[in-house]
Amino acid sequence: MSLDELKAEILRLTRLYSQQAHGGNLPGDMREDDFVPGETPVPYAARTFTEDEVCAAVGSTLDFWLTLGKEGETMETRLAKYLGIRRTLLVNSGSSANLLAFSTLTSHKLPSERRIRPGDEVITCAAGFPTTVAPIIQNGAVPVFLDNDPFTANADLSKLEEAYVPGKTKAVMMAHGLGNPFDLGRVLAFCKQHDLWLIEDNCDALGSTYTLGDPASLLHPQKETPARPYTAPTGTFGHLSTQSFYPPHHLTMGEGGAVNVVRDMKLKLIVESMRDWGRDCWCPSGQDNTCNKRFGWQLGELPEGYDHKYIYSHLGYNLKPLDIQAAIGAEQVKRLPAFSAMRIANWETLRIGLADLEAYFDFSLPTHATGWTPEGFTWDDSGCRTAPSWFGFQLLVKPGAPFSHTELAQHLNACKVGTRMFFGGNLTRQPAFVQLRKDNPAAFRVVGELSGADRIMHSGLFLGVYPGLTQAMLEYMISSIQDFVATKTR
Ligand SMILES: Cc1ncc(COP(=O)(O)O)c(C=O)c1O
Repeated sequence: MSLDELKAEILRLTRLYSQQAHGGNLPGDMREDDFVPGETPVPYAARTFTEDEVCAAVGSTLDFWLTLGKEGETMETRLAKYLGIRRTLLVNSGSSANLLAFSTLTSHKLPSERRIRPGDEVITCAAGFPTTVAPIIQNGAVPVFLDNDPFTANADLSKLEEAYVPGKTKAVMMAHGLGNPFDLGRVLAFCKQHDLWLIEDNCDALGSTYTLGDPASLLHPQKETPARPYTAPTGTFGHLSTQSFYPPHHLTMGEGGAVNVVRDMKLKLIVESMRDWGRDCWCPSGQDNTCNKRFGWQLGELPEGYDHKYIYSHLGYNLKPLDIQAAIGAEQVKRLPAFSAMRIANWETLRIGLADLEAYFDFSLPTHATGWTPEGFTWDDSGCRTAPSWFGFQLLVKPGAPFSHTELAQHLNACKVGTRMFFGGNLTRQPAFVQLRKDNPAAFRVVGELSGADRIMHSGLFLGVYPGLTQAMLEYMISSIQDFVATKTR
């Protein structure tokens, strides 16, 4: 047998194995009739894949290139094309993506007045995932926390202007909470007015779109006059944006993430340098002399002709994933439209199924929506709209309800239905941040009260909407909540 034939045979058997071991072509591991309510766990999220991903991983393992290579390029190209942006660079997690995106903005290669330096301020919001904020502090800058709107889970922007300090505020960095785009209309106009960087943490929102009523606030010059209204995926409005490919996210590589460079290719060179040890050279793995003057540089105080592969223009990291991970991701990207559609459909199923519990719960609303009916959302008059590719279905227990969110979470846990808190809740109350403030009272700043972030922390939880959920699971999730409320309100 030739090597090619051998490989084809291994992949044929892999496909067969995966079809039997992983539930055939179903998204996820579960066949509808395998589900036993109360016995089969209903996780809030799980990897969702078919034998194509398993074959891609095995194929790449057989090639044994290992480090980021051709599979990485394929995945990066597919994702950048899907988003309609200049470049995507893969990293080993969403947290690494946030660290890398933020660190990029500290580079000495940026104009001096825009470069983020220790002590500069970055506007973010209080409730969410810790590694949206940690890179700001890790780079010596100061996070300035806005409150969250509990109904959208996103920043409450009523104090955005109040948060701004001329000469100190350099950027806005925040996440689209649980897939719900934050109010980009206001944030873009604010960033444009004050010449600020915008990093969108798009880790939970791949596939969401935002419609700007007035495209005049777009930060990037457009080749053609933008349509009015202007609709584009989240993650394409800021200067940089980030993705996570950890299994609960919209697509997975096991561990993984990406930094999206929306337009400015100068930023791409810095992202790449910081990701790859801080090096000045931009040769891909396995290639030399892409610049055609590998031994022709004189930089820093190095001798003339010092090998460009070992010249470091930044204090960098090594944040690359394996090519095997990228091979899985390259297959997953193809499924994004279908995955998003299923997340949206699952969210709607839960919303309709729980609609008669509005006396006890406040359900999430997409940003700019003012209400929900089974026919659809009603919208504010900003001219902006959102179409979330939901990460989760958030509900807030109403004040005065005869049960707490913890009791509900415990009940659902006993029913084997997975729930999650909105990650770290009000981050300023987490031990790490309490200690930070003890060590240095100026380590972060809070604008106004954080009552919305506290409300999310005290009364919110979210359910899964991932594409592996079957109709039977969704119905069981709904009936488990209905039963719980019925016993508490009898
Ligand atoms: C908004 C947000 N940002 C960043 C991350 C970090 O991603 P990762 O787990 O891949 O490090 C997460 C994780 O879920 C997240 O929800």
